[in-house]
Amino acid sequence: MQEFDTPFWSWYIIILTVVSIAGTALFLMSQRTRRLAPGEKAQEMEHRWDGDLVELNNPLPSWWVNLFWITLIFAAVYLVLYPGLGSFKGILGWTSFGEHAREMENAKAKYDPVFNQFMGQPVEQVAASGEAREMGQRLFYTYCAQCHGTDAAGATGFPNLTDKDWLYGGDAESIKSSIANGRMGVMPALGAALGEEGTKQVANYVLSLSGANHDAGLATAGKALYDTNCAACHGADAKGMAAMGAPNLTDKVWLYGGSEKAIVETINKGRNGVMPAQLQALGEAKVHLLTAYVYGLGGGMAKPEAPAMPAEAAPVEGAADAAGTSAAQADASAPAAQ
Ligand code: HEC
Ligand code: HEC
Repeated sequence: MQEFDTPFWSWYIIILTVVSIAGTALFLMSQRTRRLAPGEKAQEMEHRWDGDLVELNNPLPSWWVNLFWITLIFAAVYLVLYPGLGSFKGILGWTSFGEHAREMENAKAKYDPVFNQFMGQPVEQVAASGEAREMGQRLFYTYCAQCHGTDAAGATGFPNLTDKDWLYGGDAESIKSSIANGRMGVMPALGAALGEEGTKQVANYVLSLSGANHDAGLATAGKALYDTNCAACHGADAKGMAAMGAPNLTDKVWLYGGSEKAIVETINKGRNGVMPAQLQALGEAKVHLLTAYVYGLGGGMAKPEAPAMPAEAAPVEGAADAAGTSAAQADASAPAAQ
């Protein structure tokens, strides 16, 4: 009850409460009229309605009066046991914070073993387990669907997680790092530097890369602008760069739209997609399950540098995941994303 920074308000509430309860009790007692003696008749109180509806001076039925007493006693007992009287904490020491903490504790004791059972297994193996997929899906609906969609297919600005087109890499380690530590795509606003004409030219060059409709003259002029202004991040071949999440511009997959208008807007204003970090809120075990779920949606792939026998190489990679080191490594490789 830190809101009560002076004892005044605490006493104000205590006095109000006690006076109301005592006042109600006094009032109840004052309403106790004497019982009618046997044979005595209740008197008419001179109030008549609708001709024949009369008020008598019968005492209130005792079951009814007793209900009132029960509520008063309940209130008094409650206020002794629980917080309610100003800053008095109640003799049970109950708090809603304490109750919340206790419930969280119970839930942890109950569910942690369920979530933890997959911790020791590599992501690829967890992704193949039906039970883990179901748990992953429920977690995904709760924590991820509002941005990526219930089907994980994404939307403008929110990447599709079901295809093989990845901003930051589709191997288990990269996916886990995306989820655990978050991502921040930084596409700088280059409109001012390029000028309106230059922006149009480079936008048409970008369109040409995926075989979309474009103006060939503008695109040719745009190539040189691309090489000097864009290749550092999107790559000389424009296939993107996972270390900073720069998208592949040669496929037909667009995060922000592939029309000339959308591309010009991207170049003019820049883009800053933010994937919020989840590790702190969800913990290792849930992040591991979510990684496996996303991995298993169809886009999961072996680590690019891995030798040609991914099935055998997998457990080693998974062990690193379980130790929680993968996220840190993958993150260290993406300093530009800050
Ligand atoms: C507030 C919206 C939001 C929420 C919630 C969110 N994401 Fe994201 N996520 C994004 C955005 C935006 C990006 C792309 C970041 C960028 O553009 O650089 C992203 C990127 C990703 C990536 C990398 C994709 C790639 O192509 O490399 C993965 C994996 C991912 N999210 C998984 C998840 C999972 C799993 C959850 C639930 C725990 C989740 N996200 C919750 C917005 C969100
Ligand atoms: C500093 C690195 C950097 C530079 C330089 C850069 N980009 Fe980007 N670009 C990115 C990143 C990162 C994203 C993804 C932004 C996000 O995830 O929100 C992006 C996104 C885009 C997109 C959106 C792609 C989609 O799928 O919707 C286009 C188009 C694009 N860039 C074109 C260009 C062009 C053209 C230039 C040069 C004029 C350029 N970029 C320069 C890093 C860069």
